[in-house]
Amino acid sequence: MLQPNRRPPIVIAIDGTSASGKSTNSKLVAKALGFVHVDTGAMYRTLAWYCLQQRIDVQNAKAVAAACRRWKTALKCSDGHAYLVVDGYYPAQEIRTAEVSGAVSHVATVPKVRDWMKRKQRECIQFGNLVMEGRDIGTNVFPETDFKYYLDAKLEERSRRRAADGIQENLAARDQRDSQRAAAPLMIALGARVINNSQMTSEQTSGTILADIRKRLADAEKARGR
Ligand code: DC
Repeated sequence: MLQPNRRPPIVIAIDGTSASGKSTNSKLVAKALGFVHVDTGAMYRTLAWYCLQQRIDVQNAKAVAAACRRWKTALKCSDGHAYLVVDGYYPAQEIRTAEVSGAVSHVATVPKVRDWMKRKQRECIQFGNLVMEGRDIGTNVFPETDFKYYLDAKLEERSRRRAADGIQENLAARDQRDSQRAAAPLMIALGARVINNSQMTSEQTSGTILADIRKRLADAEKARGR
């Protein structure tokens, strides 16, 4: 049946550097709005984990692309989060290990992997309004959305946050790999609001994003009513 007044789902794109607070803030924003949260980094991590499991060399782009073509996955949504399962399993803990963190940005440079991920990430729209966090959501996955945010913080502050989570990681190297890859590199999307949260709490960061979204939704509503 035709439903002429039904609006398409809203996508809030939250991109930014590693440890810039994307995860914490996207979850807070999604919860406040009642939208589904999607961590696209977790999807890349899941593929990196799968490759390590299958003893596939993550630096061999052809082998990684072949694995991505073959693996048996499904998108699931529960408790306000959408995620990818492999053979019916979501490796929630396993994808956070140092080994996977070291492997993931290699996997993420493979163009065929990025095409596959983009398709899957766009399919998440089946779950309704989304808050999607990543590196290329505003530039590549949902470039058509009006709601784009780019988070960043000083390198020392980001390293401090990672260390506070008990994770030692060379963030500068990862930023460099994410920004310099040929396929969908990390960059600020046209029209994105940039928030440097070095001196901000997550309540302040998510509050800034929420205030902006609510104002723009109210303005759009008013404009429609005119
Ligand atoms: O956000 P994260 O640290 O979990 O991301 C893991 C890796 O995946 C990171 O190196 C960047 C990559 N990534 C990406 O290239 N594009 C995305 N949309 C999300 C993550």
